[in-house]
Amino acid sequence: MRTPRFPRSACYNPDWLIASASGGANALWLTEWLSEAIELEPGMRILDLGCGRAVSSIFLQREFGVDVWATDLWFSASENLARIRDAGVDSHVFPLQCDARSLPYAEGFFDAIVSIDSFVYYGTDDTYLPYIARFVRPGGVLAMAGAGLLREIDGVLPAHLREWWEPAMWSLHSAAWWRRHWEKPNLVTVERADAMPEGWRAWLDWQHAVAPDNFVEIRTLEDDRGEYLGYVRAVARRRLDVPLEEPIRSVPTQYTKHPMLRGDSRERSASRFPPLCRRGARLRRRMVREDPTPDRASAGGRAPGRGRAHRPSPLTSTSSTRKRHVARDRK
Ligand SMILES: C[S@@+](CC[C@H](N)C(=O)[O-])C[C@H]1O[C@@H](n2cnc3c(N)ncnc32)[C@H](O)[C@@H]1O
Repeated sequence: MRTPRFPRSACYNPDWLIASASGGANALWLTEWLSEAIELEPGMRILDLGCGRAVSSIFLQREFGVDVWATDLWFSASENLARIRDAGVDSHVFPLQCDARSLPYAEGFFDAIVSIDSFVYYGTDDTYLPYIARFVRPGGVLAMAGAGLLREIDGVLPAHLREWWEPAMWSLHSAAWWRRHWEKPNLVTVERADAMPEGWRAWLDWQHAVAPDNFVEIRTLEDDRGEYLGYVRAVARRRLDVPLEEPIRSVPTQYTKHPMLRGDSRERSASRFPPLCRRGARLRRRMVREDPTPDRASAGGRAPGRGRAHRPSPLTSTSSTRKRHVARDRK
């Protein structure tokens, strides 16, 4: 539990740490490892995403003088507040219980977002980086560390991992995978993506200390010996030159009754387009007026296949098209 590799963590009482455990990793070791790859200065605003029992939040405040919003889904903010108060950091660490996919914070509020052994629960979705990036200021940092793979498993699961493996573990990935995953949307610059040297031993040591009867995990780590399992981290900086798309928070539509079946006497009188498609209907009427092609007129104004191509679908339209629809529907 006390290792020269993590001198800051070594100052904390192991009983306090074990009593505050909320997952399968030593939160102090992972936070110390991650903090070595980012510059933290007193007064910085940090979002600790998936903080569990807020051990990492307390550590970051005490060690670096930062202000931390300790945010977690499963663990109670009240329990965390008691721990934070006992640690004497309640004027700088603020616990909140909420979902990482539905955060209540202002855009650009944080100087850095850190996530310790938690990002895999929500962050593998391709839509998540564009979502979370908006909460850190341009030039701010997004950083995560946690259990992962030292190389991707592309085919069959190796035999020695099978007993321990669960379906959700397919969200474990290598540092190279995280680099690609974060680089794809072109919103951040990835500054670091690597694995902890001998990370599997740190994982195993922690298991022996906190859950010595977790035989399956211990046996799996011993059999694997760092072939697949270990700790990975990734650090990225939000780009200054790339503005983020405004998220769509709601689409103010209005229900209009339409005949459902063909042959209904009211079919002709009702609009055939739902509100979001009115632009398509207008566009088509204009095309009919402007285009004298004879088969258009005979085909009721639509050349086969052509009119359809101009009708925007709510599913396929870009968000800027949808925003124009919304603005028009509001009028
Ligand atoms: C393995 S625990 C790690 C906790 C803590 N960071 C630590 O290292 O001890 C994973 C944490 O992720 C959090 N989590 C999972 N899904 C989440 C979500 N959608 N939003 C916020 N937190 C989430 C859980 O509440 C849990 O505390």
